[in-house]
This record gives sequence, structure tokens and C-alpha cells, in this order.
Amino acid sequence: MLVKNAKIIMGTEEVMVDILIQDGKFVKVGRNLAEDLKEEILDAKGHYVLPGMIDAHTHMRTPGFTHKEDISSGSKAAIRGGVTSFFDMPNTDPATVSMEALEEKRNMYQGNSYADYAFYFGGTRFDNHEEVQKAAEETVATKIFFNVSTGDMLVEDDRILENIFHASKRVAVHAEREMVEKAIQLARKIKKPLYLCHISLEKELEYIREAKEIGIEVYGEVTPHHLFLNEEDREQTEETKLFLRTKPELKTKKDNEALWKALQYGILDTIGTDHAPHLLEEKKAKLTFGMPSVEHSLEMMWKGVEEGKITLPRLQEVMCENPANIFGLKTKGKIAVGYDADFVIVDEKDHSEIQQEEIISKAAWSPYVGQKRGCKVLTTVLRGEIMYHEGIFGKKRGREILKHE
Ligand code: DOR
Ligand code: ZN
Ligand code: ZN
Repeated sequence: MLVKNAKIIMGTEEVMVDILIQDGKFVKVGRNLAEDLKEEILDAKGHYVLPGMIDAHTHMRTPGFTHKEDISSGSKAAIRGGVTSFFDMPNTDPATVSMEALEEKRNMYQGNSYADYAFYFGGTRFDNHEEVQKAAEETVATKIFFNVSTGDMLVEDDRILENIFHASKRVAVHAEREMVEKAIQLARKIKKPLYLCHISLEKELEYIREAKEIGIEVYGEVTPHHLFLNEEDREQTEETKLFLRTKPELKTKKDNEALWKALQYGILDTIGTDHAPHLLEEKKAKLTFGMPSVEHSLEMMWKGVEEGKITLPRLQEVMCENPANIFGLKTKGKIAVGYDADFVIVDEKDHSEIQQEEIISKAAWSPYVGQKRGCKVLTTVLRGEIMYHEGIFGKKRGREILKHE
């Protein structure tokens, strides 16, 4: 495939290039590449072309909660949003806390995903560090819950936490407030890279800033909802009071602003959606935390560019390059020779409203319906094959990233 007239971001520059793709990899990026290669031509028409988004934080609900989402619907939603790789969290049923459960999840994913994927492995309060160790090289990180959240995965015992840290290659945590500091201290003591999921408070940024300053390997993630939404949005109606409940909870407008700054200036490193689909009936019937968002993350985040809160080169870093680097993906996250040809073409002038009818997630709602998008995903390509273009989806050819590197 030859992609013509692609506006790409290299460093802080924007350049118009053609991109040659063979066997699913980028093989040439340059000006006026010959058209006599008998390659299929995809004309980007001068639109921005970004590496496929890597969403390091999703709950695709397979197995166990497939009435909320399943691997097929969730990965299709991802592709629609320009996300070509995602990492799945372990709070499924069974939870991904044993090699057996990991295998079972793998089998269910096989042949059913539109996007490429990798798995987290969960640490448990029953001290499953032996299983954690077995899974360490095959999964992106061990996920540990330092606070109560959806699922029954809290780990509180210090000795067990240490055992799990020791057995891990890297650790990702759901930690809020002081627990952020506790996780950082453990990472420092046991010397493991630490990924802090969904940072939501200005105060938590201080812990990260200090840790980075003294050279601890720690990374911060922020979700689109903690950037764009706050308590005021949640308190608007009886419905939003239920629908916009999430863990961590939405915070204040001041926190929104502090998070944007931290994202632009390097205290925060990635956007992860924490795509956590629940049906609205469930959210109405019982207090249920989490919201779907994988399919609008890029389109929403581009609003941040429009509003001057983040630069486009930085957006590309935090949504593509950084997740690949932090989790050691060698073939993803960049439009460069030798990398997987995962990319997305967007129309940055399309600010149309996000519509209820367009939603692909089984959860069938989005906190962003009615909002104007910052750009529109036109085309999503996975390893050189068009997966989404003008409303048409390709076939389910997603595969496990760590098995193919
Ligand atoms: O709001 C949340 N929902 N936070 C979490 O940590 C888990 C997630 C879910 O799985 O629903
Ligand atoms: Zn969480
Ligand atoms: Zn989560």
C-alpha cells in the first residue's frame, strides 16, 4: 500500500509525505514516492496521519461480563476511534490472576478482535506471586488495586504487595490520593517500573513530580474524562449523578486544568481511557463505576489541541509513542521504517457533534454524546490493512502483540 499526501508530525514539525507499506510494516517514508510500484493507493488528501493510538487501559469485559462489552464490540469501538492497540485489564470473570485464566482469555480473544491487544495480569490478596512471575514476560504489567473498585481485587497486605512487586516485570496500579505515594515508595524500594493509572487530582501530581525528580521510574496516566469532565458536570441532573460516577471520581475544574498542564509538560505521560463499559440500566439500578470512552478518545483529545491545552506533537507522544515505550512494545507507536503500519487518518476540520447513533460499544452510551468532536477519524489501518474506512470495517485480524514481537 502507498499512502499519498499524508501530513505527519515528526518531532515538532509537520511534513507532507508519502508512506510505503509492505508486509504490514512501514518501509519508506518520504516525498513523492513513485506510484509505479503497483501498490494500492490510499490518498490521505493532505489530512493528518498519526500512528495508531495505543490505549493502555481498557476493560473489554471478556470473559464474564459480555453483556456490557465483549472483545468483538470493544475492539471494533477501538478501531472506530483510531485505537489500533489496547491493553485489557484483569477484572474479568474469571479474573486474570492465574495462567489458566490468562489462557482462557487468550482463547476467547483469538480471531475475535479487530485491533491488536495485550493483557495485564492481576495481583491478588491471596498472594499469587508465583503466577505473577510466570505471566510477567507474557503480559504488559501486573495490575494491582490499592483502592476498592469494580471487582474484588484490592490488595492491602504490605508483605503480599512486596511479593507481587518482586515477581513483576512492571506494575500498574489503581491508586488514589495517599495510595499513589504508597505505590511509589514500593516501586522505589523493590525497583520496578510503576505505571500510575488514571491520575485525577492536582495533589497526586506532586507525588509524581517528586518521584521523577529523584529518578524513580514512574509514569502517570490520565483519562479523557478526568480532563474534560468534573463534579459540576456530574451534579447536573439526576441521571448524570449516576452515569458519571467513576473510580477515581470526577474532580474539580481546577484539577482538570492542573492535569492538562501536567500532561503537556511531562508530569503525566499517557492518555489511557479506562474504557469501563456498563449498561445504563445497570448504572440506574445500582451505583456502578466507570464509563465507556475508547471510541472517542482521539476525537475528544483533539479538542485539547484546538483549545490550546496540548500541542499536536505532544498529543501524538502521549497517545502513541509513550505507551509503546513505557510498556516495551518494539514495533508500535511510530510512523517510521520497520514499525507496524498502524495508523489513523483524521479530518481535523470536522467538528460535528458526537451522536448517539454512532456508538459501537455494547454499553450503548457515551459521556460525550452531544459534544462537538475536535477531529473525525476517517480511516484506521492495522498492520497495513484498512480496518475502518467510511463506515466499513475490515475483518477481525487483531492479534496478541507480545507474541509477535
Ligand atoms: O470506574 C471504574 N470502573 N474504575 C475502575 O477502576 C474499574 C472500572 C470497571 O472495571 O468498571
Ligand atoms: Zn482503576
Ligand atoms: Zn480501569
